[in-house]
Amino acid sequence: MIAELWRSVDDYFSTLLLDPDPVLDAALEANRAGALPSIDVSPQQGKLLHLLACSIGARRILEVGTLGGYSTIWLARALPPDGRLITCEIDPHRAEVATSNIAMAGLADVVDLRVGAADHTLSILDAAVDGPFDLTFIDADKGSGTEYFEHALRLSRPGSLIIVDNVVRGGRVVDNETTEPTAVGSRRLAEAVAREKRVSATVIQTVGAKGYDGFLLARVE
Ligand code: SAH
Ligand code: DHB
Ligand code: MG
Repeated sequence: MIAELWRSVDDYFSTLLLDPDPVLDAALEANRAGALPSIDVSPQQGKLLHLLACSIGARRILEVGTLGGYSTIWLARALPPDGRLITCEIDPHRAEVATSNIAMAGLADVVDLRVGAADHTLSILDAAVDGPFDLTFIDADKGSGTEYFEHALRLSRPGSLIIVDNVVRGGRVVDNETTEPTAVGSRRLAEAVAREKRVSATVIQTVGAKGYDGFLLARVE
């Protein structure tokens, strides 16, 4: 199976390039114990988010879709001690697991987890007070990606990065007939980003431990 090969290649590079990480391992174990779905970013994707945040010297990070905080930990570890990450999660049980994982990672002081619907949480964030955010990672309900992207843009500054996960979903994004909300959401997002003069963006297709998908990376101009 080709998907098994993608996983083996991911595992091969993870063994070589990712340090053993008992904190991240324990977070995934706590997610399993809490019956959270295994839809966290892959270790390689997590490292990419971390490296991007480090590269731009991010001090403020916004995340939409926390789950158990796996991607949150990767991102928050890029912050300086006075940095801040705001992350949004609608599900109280997931937020509870994430709060515990984030504390276990020693990141409780830099991570601010807001429990509730992201459209509400984002609508009450103010660029001048809470931001501007140097990096936003959008990874929640895929049908609302366009709205989250618009909020991220409002809360950004020139040079900020906005990353949107899961925009390819097995290639279903190019199926004109599809009514699958994630694929429809991806097309709507891509078309909105295409019209948006304030960003320059690219989509990278990915294969790996999580199958065939991809992410959008936009830089605010
Ligand atoms: N970023 C995480 C995975 C997030 S999975 C990681 O890589 O580790 C997507 C999460 O978005 C789920 O936990 C889901 O409960 C949450 N979510 C879905 N709809 C939401 C909404 N309207 N507001 C906030 N969070 C939402
Ligand atoms: C799903 C959500 C994700 O964020 C992801 O990266 C993979 C799958 C899902 O809801 O199925
Ligand atoms: Mg995702």
